[in-house]
Amino acid sequence: MDKRGTFGSRLAIVLATAGSAVGLGNIWRFPFMTGQNGGAAFILIYFACVLLLGIPGMVNEFIVGRHAQTNAARAYGSIGGKRWRAIGYLGILTSTIILGFYAVVAGWCLQYLYASIAGQLDGDPAYVVTYFKTFSSDALKPCLWGVGFVLITHLVVAQGVEKGIERASKLLMPLLLMLLLILVVASCLLPNALAGIEFLLKPDFSKVSSGVFLEALGQAFFSLSLGTACLCTYASYFKRDTNLLRSATQIALLDSAIAILAGLMIFPAAFSVGVQPDSGPSLIFITLPNVFREAFGAMPVVGYVISILFYALLVFAALTSTISMHEIGTAFFHEELHLPRRKAAWILTVVCSLIAIFCSLSVGAYSNLQLFGMSLLDFCDFLTAQLMLPAGAFLTSILMGWFANRQLVQGEFTNGGTLRATFFKAWFFSVRYIVPLCIALIFLHQFGLL
Ligand code: PFF
Repeated sequence: MDKRGTFGSRLAIVLATAGSAVGLGNIWRFPFMTGQNGGAAFILIYFACVLLLGIPGMVNEFIVGRHAQTNAARAYGSIGGKRWRAIGYLGILTSTIILGFYAVVAGWCLQYLYASIAGQLDGDPAYVVTYFKTFSSDALKPCLWGVGFVLITHLVVAQGVEKGIERASKLLMPLLLMLLLILVVASCLLPNALAGIEFLLKPDFSKVSSGVFLEALGQAFFSLSLGTACLCTYASYFKRDTNLLRSATQIALLDSAIAILAGLMIFPAAFSVGVQPDSGPSLIFITLPNVFREAFGAMPVVGYVISILFYALLVFAALTSTISMHEIGTAFFHEELHLPRRKAAWILTVVCSLIAIFCSLSVGAYSNLQLFGMSLLDFCDFLTAQLMLPAGAFLTSILMGWFANRQLVQGEFTNGGTLRATFFKAWFFSVRYIVPLCIALIFLHQFGLL
């Protein structure tokens, strides 16, 4: 088998891993969750989840991956023994399902990018609603865009770690940041934008029901790509001298900053034209085209450009994330079945395309494709973000806090003693007690057992 890849520099490590973290989770899921769950109150709980559970959880997965330098299943096995490979399998399954439904929404973004360029999104509010409904309920088009997105992802991943993943991240991440900043400035300069900024900064605790905690936890894990074996797989390409705690903190802060910026891009614009931001997943496909049209009504060219930039931003953000989801399974099949990388990548591409097709049909032409009263797409989102990701992170914490060899763990945390162990004790305490306890409490509470 060919030599295993590694990321070429510290910057590449942060950009690629942040590329995985920053995605539709930040720009699509975070704003509508915030809109539905009380604005700043939700954000506070979300931040607490990132700091208390997210960063320690990221370091966990980094240690597993960097120590073993192999695919997720084998990596978990090498830390805890064969039985613990199960966490790796769970992660591979989770990320495959996520890639399936994520590609559907990413495909919508591609279609909207195309529609913005072609000037098709121009019309009154009723037209924009009909446009979305007609498009998403078409049997063929959304499936094709979704599968197309999986294929674009395939092309990058098949190129390998340095030539594919690292190169794409180095190009797309700076572009993404630039587009986001332009859009935030444009949005905050609109009349009455302050109301949107206030919504983001002023907590309304009356909207915080018990379910909000699990939602915030699921959102934090989803956004950090935690509990899917993604971080573990990327860490297997880290260099031996990478400071894991520092990298995790940088990535978590960057990811949270981008989520807030996405809020600052969407809410001021929405409030400026008097649109309520609680419209759920369709926020960026129905609400925003209207917002762009109304906000820049006096300058249609600016509205046209802004709309293109916005959907390009979504496509770039989604792509750096789908690459990471695809890589988890590709690395696994490549190494375990001794297949060439390109062939291994095809396995994932075919499976994820099938999931994408079923999810797409379930929100469109075949709305009777339901599970537990939800469309297949919503079900996959719920199953992964609120059950499988927390379960993966919970089990990893139990492994690292209670079963793994402590010297090995400390050695990885401190890079063989070359870094100061100042935070080791706090981190270890958190992984042993706080992370599993909090996840368990939130779970039990959500399912009415507490
Ligand atoms: N973190 C990505 C986002 O916020 O869009 C989603 C994601 C990527 C989830 C990779 C899981 C994963 F393995």
